[in-house]
Amino acid sequence: ATLQLIGAPTDIGASTRGAGMGPDALRVAGIAQMLARLGFEVIDQGNLSGPATPWIAPTTELHHLDEVVAWNRAVYDAVNAALTASHLPILLGGDHSIAVGSISAIAWHARRRGKKLRVLWLDAHSDVNTETTSPSGNLHGMPVSCLLGHGPDALTGWSGERAALEHDAIRFIGIRSVDAHEKAAIRTMGLNVFDMRHIDEHGMRTTMVEALQDVDEDTHLHVSFDLDCLDPDYAPGVGTGVRGGPTWREMQLCMEMIADTGRLSSLDVVELNPALDVRNRTAEVAVELIESLFGKSTLSR
Ligand code: ARG
Ligand code: MN
Ligand code: MN
Ligand code: MN
Repeated sequence: ATLQLIGAPTDIGASTRGAGMGPDALRVAGIAQMLARLGFEVIDQGNLSGPATPWIAPTTELHHLDEVVAWNRAVYDAVNAALTASHLPILLGGDHSIAVGSISAIAWHARRRGKKLRVLWLDAHSDVNTETTSPSGNLHGMPVSCLLGHGPDALTGWSGERAALEHDAIRFIGIRSVDAHEKAAIRTMGLNVFDMRHIDEHGMRTTMVEALQDVDEDTHLHVSFDLDCLDPDYAPGVGTGVRGGPTWREMQLCMEMIADTGRLSSLDVVELNPALDVRNRTAEVAVELIESLFGKSTLSR
């Protein structure tokens, strides 16, 4: 497959500035060269453009909705174009609010091609707040709600259906920070959450066997990789880090097991914040993990 790198350099949905530098930090860490070394054709289309992040006084109200919509339009169009060209889109964020545009475009294509969609949401957070439940007003905490059909109207219905995702199309992995209203939403909708306790008790291997159950040749498998999923000891360069996450080794196994399905068809890499990083370590860790996700193996090839 031809891999298409799409940069979305924005921190418009985040609480902390800096994620807008994520795409270039991943390039500096050698993401394109690494993928080429694995034998893929790689097109780096550079960065999309969109509105700047205006300064506003901290409030709990919804922040920057118009700007988030504008960035997601650009992301939707770019991911749509990549899929239309039968390329595998790799969206380099950017904060996690851009997953709305990316996964909406993916859902539209999957439906049109008669594929079932499975999304793996690798994250410390469940990102299932809404504008009424959010404690922060930051849209990077709401993309899952938008995709399930419960987001702000301006960010909902982009896939051509009210809900881009059925509630059983998404698996959350590594979760350890869930707000009070999010807990209720997870329970009411019956979302499949493999939280850190589950990973502690059953291990990453069993967790991934469960999360990948029923992924078959008719599945479009999408990974939405929020770098704060990793323990901050391994990935300090994130804006909303939460301790107690998977180690580098556990995350490697997670990526390897996804690779083994052979069904990975699109990827978001989000929430990398170079302004908070240590000598680009988090970008380098991301590149090492993505290398496994795209099939690097110690003994074969
Ligand atoms: N739950 C918090 C909120 O809604 C934090 C969300 C963090 N999301 C992220 N993509 N890093 O504000
Ligand atoms: Mn997160
Ligand atoms: Mn449902
Ligand atoms: Mn997230």
